[in-house]
Amino acid sequence: MPTMTPSFAEFLPEWIARQRWYTAKGSTPLLRRVGGLRYQDPDGEVGIETWLLRDDSGPAPVLYQVPLTYRAEPVDGLEHALVARGEHSELGPRWVYDGCHDPVGARVLLGTIVGEGTVVSDGGAQYGRATGHRAGGPGAMRSHTGGERVRVLSGEQSNTSIIFEGDDGPPVICKVFRVVPDGRNPDVVVQEALADAGSTRVPAPLGDLYGEWTGAEGERQHGHLAFAQEFLAGVEDAWRVAVRAAVDGEDLATRATALGAAVASVHRDLAAAFPLHEATPPVRAGLRATWRDRAAAALLAVPELQELRDAITEVYARAESVPWPALQRIHGDLHLGQVIEAPDRGWLLLDFEGEPLRPLPERTAPDLALRDVAGMLRSLEYAAGAAHREHGAEVPEEWAAQARTSFLDGYARESGRDPREDAELLAALELDKALYEAVYEVRNRPAWLTIPVAGIRRLLDGPVT
Ligand SMILES: Nc1ncnc2c1ncn2[C@@H]1O[C@H](COP(=O)(O)OP(=O)(O)O)[C@@H](O)[C@H]1O
Ligand SMILES: [Mg+2]
Repeated sequence: MPTMTPSFAEFLPEWIARQRWYTAKGSTPLLRRVGGLRYQDPDGEVGIETWLLRDDSGPAPVLYQVPLTYRAEPVDGLEHALVARGEHSELGPRWVYDGCHDPVGARVLLGTIVGEGTVVSDGGAQYGRATGHRAGGPGAMRSHTGGERVRVLSGEQSNTSIIFEGDDGPPVICKVFRVVPDGRNPDVVVQEALADAGSTRVPAPLGDLYGEWTGAEGERQHGHLAFAQEFLAGVEDAWRVAVRAAVDGEDLATRATALGAAVASVHRDLAAAFPLHEATPPVRAGLRATWRDRAAAALLAVPELQELRDAITEVYARAESVPWPALQRIHGDLHLGQVIEAPDRGWLLLDFEGEPLRPLPERTAPDLALRDVAGMLRSLEYAAGAAHREHGAEVPEEWAAQARTSFLDGYARESGRDPREDAELLAALELDKALYEAVYEVRNRPAWLTIPVAGIRRLLDGPVT
């Protein structure tokens, strides 16, 4: 058996612990390799693999995907992506890189997806299979080599996204899932379903890679490992656009109206493509319980909210007393960081993955479409708060109020039902979100706590705008 010195067991845990996508910050992972795929470098020079590693150090096991490349020489410019420098017993010196950052590794991954290839493991039993998607690929995309420019998207990301730009095809973004759930990833499933339904409010999917590994009981598990889609080059995410508008006192009305319409259109397509669930008494009781739990946690974590206890209970009681619309598939984590406005395409929604650490059944369960509406309303208010906190801007209350009203106007026009007709429910969902934010801020950014607390007080004072 050929060996590496230092061994993977020596260098991988410490490297993984330093990665942004490692979820148990501050602790050392306890890793077991439960699967892996080996790719072929067309030039035969670079070893390319993806490792599937289960971390058993936390309360629940988490599966990580770690693509690696092995090279006989160091690569200029890839210093930041060096995982280890080692000695292979047969091949000699090896430089091990994060395979997402190594252009050869990245191109091979894209080639596998657009070429609808199959990747095998060393053991042979496991596989990764790529499937093109008819909305955007593979057909014309089959010969896409990735172009001459390959880069990893920077920023606070839970996954690793690789961007391919060049002359031989349209720009592509390939998201490598770092935390891999057992089962089809909602990011892929939902975006492909929307594209199939003819929605123009999501980037065109190009294809995905689906793989297999061994579960804790020796059973076969499988799920999506990567997802390639159209990349809208040169657009900023809407969060930054909104914060800047708030700083400049620039009116967001037209854009917020169009955004509301885009969200409503996606909701309509999701309602048609996935099952609807009536809001039966048990379903309502379940949601009420999550509100109550969240409120209890927030009152504990943020003492200044305690005097609001009765008013909070009152908002939830009002929401319980009104009729509820049917539950449907929703985005689930909608905020300004999940939407982009492209010059010729208008608003597009991104990232239907939900919170990667929550169990899949929860992330894919039908929910109130108003939850997404509430998420965006909170985000618009947050943009005003961030303009103040980060840039010292004095943003008048009317700025956020107007953006929120415009968003709701656009949503109402497109969907045919004004979310304000469900004011009690919308207030409860916004309150739930704001209480969540308050807990987050008190733990991570106490100086920002005033933003959710102001939102909570406003929601308790009167009807939503
Ligand atoms: N198809 C795309 N076109 C242009 N930009 C994109 C595209 N997909 C993602 N992005 C950019 O990358 C960011 C992160 O993407 P996202 O899918 O939300 O990943 P994550 O799961 O890590 O949050 C987005 O906020 C957006 O700025
Ligand atoms: Mg995102």
